[in-house]
Amino acid sequence: MSDTTSSRAESSPTRDLPKSPGSAFEGRTFYIKTFGCQMNVHDSERMAGLLSAEGGQPVSEPQTADIILVNTCTIRDKADQKALSDLGRIRQVRKDGPGTILAVTGCMAQREGEEIFRLVPDVDLILGPSQIRNLIPLLDTAAEKNSRVDGTLWPVPEMTTPPALRPPGVSAFLTVQEGCDKACAYCVVPATRGAERSRPVGDILQEAEDLVSMGYREITLLGQNVNGYGKKGDTAGASFPELLQRLSEIPGLLRVRFTTSHPMDMSDALIEVMATAPRVMPHLHLPVQSGSDRMLEKMQRGYDLKTYRRWVEKLREKVPAAALTTDLIVGFCSETEDDFQQTLSAVEEFRFDGAFAFIYSPRPSTPAHGWGETPPREVSVERLERLQKRVEQQSMERNQSLVGTEIEILTEKWDPETRTAFGRTPQFLTVRAIVSPDQSDPVPGDLLTVHISQAARAGLKGNASPHA
Ligand code: SAH
Ligand code: SF4
Ligand code: F3S
Repeated sequence: MSDTTSSRAESSPTRDLPKSPGSAFEGRTFYIKTFGCQMNVHDSERMAGLLSAEGGQPVSEPQTADIILVNTCTIRDKADQKALSDLGRIRQVRKDGPGTILAVTGCMAQREGEEIFRLVPDVDLILGPSQIRNLIPLLDTAAEKNSRVDGTLWPVPEMTTPPALRPPGVSAFLTVQEGCDKACAYCVVPATRGAERSRPVGDILQEAEDLVSMGYREITLLGQNVNGYGKKGDTAGASFPELLQRLSEIPGLLRVRFTTSHPMDMSDALIEVMATAPRVMPHLHLPVQSGSDRMLEKMQRGYDLKTYRRWVEKLREKVPAAALTTDLIVGFCSETEDDFQQTLSAVEEFRFDGAFAFIYSPRPSTPAHGWGETPPREVSVERLERLQKRVEQQSMERNQSLVGTEIEILTEKWDPETRTAFGRTPQFLTVRAIVSPDQSDPVPGDLLTVHISQAARAGLKGNASPHA
């Protein structure tokens, strides 16, 4: 999962959601700023959905908002710093007056708890990712009490489906599983998102059908370990591969994606459904983290490189077209140059189609916090650069190998002036395709066959095939 700052869910009114009559939020404006991974982006869409259903109006600037929500990430120290600096800016520009609320939500709020009130004195309310379904009562309580409210102390509500206000488009996020029961030594997520739980299969299918009827054509299933779906929670016995199979049978849903998968939750059945269900896209994001067994053990990942390799081999055998992407950490406790060389060799061997690489950042409330023995900062920076350079070279080589081929994209945007369609390949590569004037204009949601003529590191360019 990437954790880039996102503006997707900050935005503007999109779909009409049913409104509660006479709600206290009628006509009140709200602004949401989102940091972190796709799950956070979708959590913001859910919070926007809850507020809209109560009559709230989204706005794109904090200055004009009655309610400000800053949805934070805390995966690395840098994420905390970004959120705190944004909060510093927002508190200067926020509206004054009765009924205005500044809330800090998300993983940093959960981890820091009431320390947030000290770090950012103007904050009225904090809540963690598990309390999103309590958003409205929490805001009510904060407004009524006119005092600080710590929602992280409220009980975790049932896994119902809050309404979500998604940006209009072709592709939508859908959370199928929350929390994490693994215990990777470096990772704060089990502490911020709580125990693993899966949504009932019927709720997921219903939400997917609703999304298709709203015009979405692609769904990305989200979960910390999405392929662990069904292990815990009332899923009526459905496993993740079964869920994928059933989603792929929904009429009008052209593409199903999923992220992030964990090597320990892999199964032959998952690879099988990727091989046999044409609408399940051939892309597996399977974080390996390190190529050194010593590091993997210290990280408490639960697998060794041999096990990871077995899954990669199976995937490539059954789904030869599949893209494989990964996450990598350098500079973990006691990492030596030899450990790092093994990570480089793993990159050489697996030829990932993409990788997010990070320098280890010690996190409070994680097992590895305090273990120390991290390499000097400049060593880790240099390792990260070497790793990223190699991954980029490989992406470039892979993209160049696609020149001259025909690939199907799902059109996400269409610019009639330049006659350019923008979309993604099944493997999730971005493509810009010129559509000649004698071809009909595509609309977002159309599948388009593109003859690839140029490759850059960031994506591909080409021409829509005439028969499209
Ligand atoms: N559940 C997913 C990962 C979620 S966090 C999995 O297990 O694969 C996304 C990525 O952030 C991780 O894969 C890891 O590479 C990175 N990450 C997590 N904690 C980190 C830390 N303390 N320092 C640096 N990178 C970290
Ligand atoms: Fe973090 Fe590990 Fe859980 Fe992924 S599996 S969220 S890295 S603890
Ligand atoms: Fe996501 Fe960051 Fe939380 S990566 S799960 S928002 S700590």
